[in-house]
Amino acid sequence: EKGTYPHFMLKEIDEQPFVMRRIIKEYQTEDNKLKLDADVRQAMKACDRIYIIAAGTSYHAGLVGKEFIEKLANIPVEVHIASEFSYNMPLLSENPLFVFISQSGETADSRAVLVRIKELGHPALTITNVPGSTLSREADYTLNLYAGPEIAVASTKAYTAQIAVLAILAVDTAQAKELELDFDPMQELAIVANAMEVLTDQKEAIEELVRENLGTTRNAFFIGRSTDYHVCQEGSLKLKEISYIQAEGFAGGELKHGTIALIEEGTPVIAIATQENVNLSIRGNVQEVAARGANTMVFSMKGLEQDTDAFVIPHVHELLTPLASVVPMQLLAYYAALHRDCDVDKPRNLAKSVTVE
Ligand code: F6R
Repeated sequence: EKGTYPHFMLKEIDEQPFVMRRIIKEYQTEDNKLKLDADVRQAMKACDRIYIIAAGTSYHAGLVGKEFIEKLANIPVEVHIASEFSYNMPLLSENPLFVFISQSGETADSRAVLVRIKELGHPALTITNVPGSTLSREADYTLNLYAGPEIAVASTKAYTAQIAVLAILAVDTAQAKELELDFDPMQELAIVANAMEVLTDQKEAIEELVRENLGTTRNAFFIGRSTDYHVCQEGSLKLKEISYIQAEGFAGGELKHGTIALIEEGTPVIAIATQENVNLSIRGNVQEVAARGANTMVFSMKGLEQDTDAFVIPHVHELLTPLASVVPMQLLAYYAALHRDCDVDKPRNLAKSVTVE
């Protein structure tokens, strides 16, 4: 039920701090150790490469998860769009582990891949919000997202839950492999939960940005580098699917290879800047587009902010910045849709779960 909320999407955005805390609780033992199925741990340890298969927003979560697994657990990861993998299967490693990420657990494109790889005899782990779903039943192992039912077509809390669970999985694997780590996922996720609360309290500021900058625009661009680029992809998907503004997320460095030609006087460009090592380069990109007339809005992380930034995100661990930076992106999309009188929870032409290929 929506309760006092006008839309499920807004309710689900606001639930994200609670979902983070529930994930911490569900994946922690009483003596503060990570609580994961021994079989999952074994499968992660035994593989030589991970193939993440997903669609849409879940694919975007997979792009972030790849970084965790590679950086923390030292296992190479490929992330594939399910519908592409089906028809153009890459060369597989000797001992692959397939990880399916799906809120609904019913996405037909992902299921087609699962059926195929089971025929080939490879192990599969499904990360889903619906434990009894098809992808969960047909895989060897399941990890639950504990996000609670997601009703709005645009996925919000499932995305952040997926990223949190992927971080826990990566750390658990690193521990199983006895790798050195100075990253406590539960402590850092608790900080994220608090940051999310601060962010969801800033709805008016975001609504104001939408009113000033996205009111009548036909298009909008999102630019970021490294991890921020993945959040740009998700931010642009959110905006286009519910507000019908043509939106695209780009890697900052790619602008000069073509996209900058699209920048005109007043084109909205949203930049995400949460990563210290690319802060100077993304700032350079913002100046390049501003010099060509773009209406720039920088969303930076505390500690990296500049006076002219549109919005400052509370500080969270560098690996987990997508969990914080995506929240204002979700709210931007929400208010843009609201201001255009769009059907926020049920955008045109879209279904909550895509059960046909
Ligand atoms: C976007 C959105 C879709 C889904 C995609 C995969 O907001 O909701 O892009 O993420 O259809 O769905 P699941 O995760 O259920 O497999």
